[in-house]
Amino acid sequence: MKIGNLDVGELPLFLAPMEDVTYKSFRYLCKKFGADVMSTEFVSADAIMREMEATKRKMTIFDFDRPIAIQIYGSNIEAMIWAAKVAEEAQPNYIDINFGCPMKKIAGKGCGAGLLRDIPKMIKMAGEIVKAVNLPVTAKTRLGWDPSDMPIVDIAERLQDVGIQMLTIHGRTRSQLFSGEADWRLIGDVKANPRMKIPIIGNGDISSPEKAKAFSEQAGVDGLMIGRGAIGRPWIFRDIRHYMNTGELLPPPTVPEVVESVKEQLFQSISYKPEPRGAILEMRRHFARYFPGLENFREFRVQLLQAIEVDQVVNILDAIALEYSNVQVDYTHVNLQKAG
Ligand SMILES: Cc1cc2nc3c(=O)[nH]c(=O)nc-3n(C[C@H](O)[C@H](O)[C@H](O)COP(=O)(O)O)c2cc1C
Repeated sequence: MKIGNLDVGELPLFLAPMEDVTYKSFRYLCKKFGADVMSTEFVSADAIMREMEATKRKMTIFDFDRPIAIQIYGSNIEAMIWAAKVAEEAQPNYIDINFGCPMKKIAGKGCGAGLLRDIPKMIKMAGEIVKAVNLPVTAKTRLGWDPSDMPIVDIAERLQDVGIQMLTIHGRTRSQLFSGEADWRLIGDVKANPRMKIPIIGNGDISSPEKAKAFSEQAGVDGLMIGRGAIGRPWIFRDIRHYMNTGELLPPPTVPEVVESVKEQLFQSISYKPEPRGAILEMRRHFARYFPGLENFREFRVQLLQAIEVDQVVNILDAIALEYSNVQVDYTHVNLQKAG
């Protein structure tokens, strides 16, 4: 499968862009465990225009990251063109436009999924960005605004017509936010449309290798994108690839193996945060996700969330590895709704 001229292999596994999650340290682990293509967190066109430091940092690309997209969002077409050009200077492999974020502070301002209410503007924005940059431009969106309005088959054609090179579809509407179940049937309808030539990437609710295979077969997509299912489980990419290739499930990691990965993420984070405490704060959203379903884990969880020094965190992690030295993590009851 190709994004423009970039060959990303057969049925590539994408790490979904996730705000406050897909920063360098987490991307590093996902790549290590087999994510084929990744994305930065989304960056706001307005923030790019204001040259905000945090935004520049979000657009920093590392060698290990490739191939990777910078994802941009905004409601003003001129600002988005400017943002795409600035993003291009950071030299990602391609630029992705966010037409899917449902959050009120984004969609309510006409950004992200807000553009699903003004499709002519969405198409114009996409076309103008395609014309403004040399890199491939892709888009990520949802099925539509709400269940009474799901024009994704039409949107996909029109985005393709203005030069979008790949479309990722999250199988929910804006009004669903993250509730209910992702509907992969409509994703399949887009893929089955004989007019569509660009790759279609399916996204939504992939929480296991079995689901990845089932959704992929159901919708016939060109690639799969995994978001919440990778939080606390970056090896899900390896697990999915192995299952797709062999039909067999890899055993889940033991707690000491997980602890090694958590430390790796922590030290990656320390390597770019101005202060170690910033890394610890960054890790807080991840800690508990790495240890789902462990018996009597509550005390350790509280300790991890209260620790403010790196040594403290490392000591707690070592104690966890010791306490659960022979335990394998069990993912069967992980609830994605809680993973965001
Ligand atoms: C914490 C969080 C942050 C997200 N941030 C972004 C984002 O910056 N850009 C984007 O396109 N989607 C974002 N999403 C949506 C995901 O990319 C993905 O479409 C969604 O989570 C459904 O996939 P999943 O079921 O595999 O998680 C975010 C989702 C979560 C949970």
